[in-house]
Amino acid sequence: MIRNIVGDVYQIGEYVEGSYGYEAVLVYVIMNEQHPILIDCGSQLHRTGIMQEINSLLAGRTPEYIFLTHSELPHAGNLQQVAKQWPNIKVIVSNVMLPYIEIAPILPLSQITSEAAGKTINVGGRTLKFVFATLKDQPGSQWVFDAQTGVLFTGDGFGYYQSAEQIGKFSDEVEGGIREIQFRDYHRTAFHFLRWVLPEKFNPDLDAIFAQLPVKIIAPIHGDAIRGDIPTHVARLKQAVANIRNAV
Ligand SMILES: [Fe+2]
Ligand SMILES: [Fe+2]
Repeated sequence: MIRNIVGDVYQIGEYVEGSYGYEAVLVYVIMNEQHPILIDCGSQLHRTGIMQEINSLLAGRTPEYIFLTHSELPHAGNLQQVAKQWPNIKVIVSNVMLPYIEIAPILPLSQITSEAAGKTINVGGRTLKFVFATLKDQPGSQWVFDAQTGVLFTGDGFGYYQSAEQIGKFSDEVEGGIREIQFRDYHRTAFHFLRWVLPEKFNPDLDAIFAQLPVKIIAPIHGDAIRGDIPTHVARLKQAVANIRNAV
């Protein structure tokens, strides 16, 4: 399903049914005029559908960059097909990720750039800031902030399970937005360590990110984009972190 989120930022992807409802596996596309940028590329399991949607959206344009939030298959598993169709694409990953170990040697190393959290770079005229992933399930997990639109791409962070009726809907199109229990169920299963994390230590780190960046939209890979009312949704995520800890 292709949906415009804001400005020239789109989400595409598929939804997998599980015991908690549906889990999105999304790819974000920043059209960026003639210099499109992909954020993750989906799983090889959804290759056909995702490639059809990327091609439909790009309408003949060539993506110049792909940022991988981390190397797990729902995020990077489709890279082989992306590289096959666009062999000149440049890959950007966290400086903690290990190319050729975590991701297969599909492209020359000269096309892979590793960037540290905190770094701001210009790709195709677009300013992207790399953000320390407060919620990470791999050392090389990293978030990215698009200054032009205020979208923070959060990889696995801020994911949530959704009902069949919620599929493809942004948070502002769902009555009451994303509920704390949706964040809680997802984060408890995606980040097993959270049950040992002290919310009074963790939550201020999350607050610090949103104090530093003018985030207007949160774009998780496993959940439709969270548009607007960011303080409420951050508060619900913090409550979810506290409830996961308290349940131990
Ligand atoms: Fe992950
Ligand atoms: Fe994931």
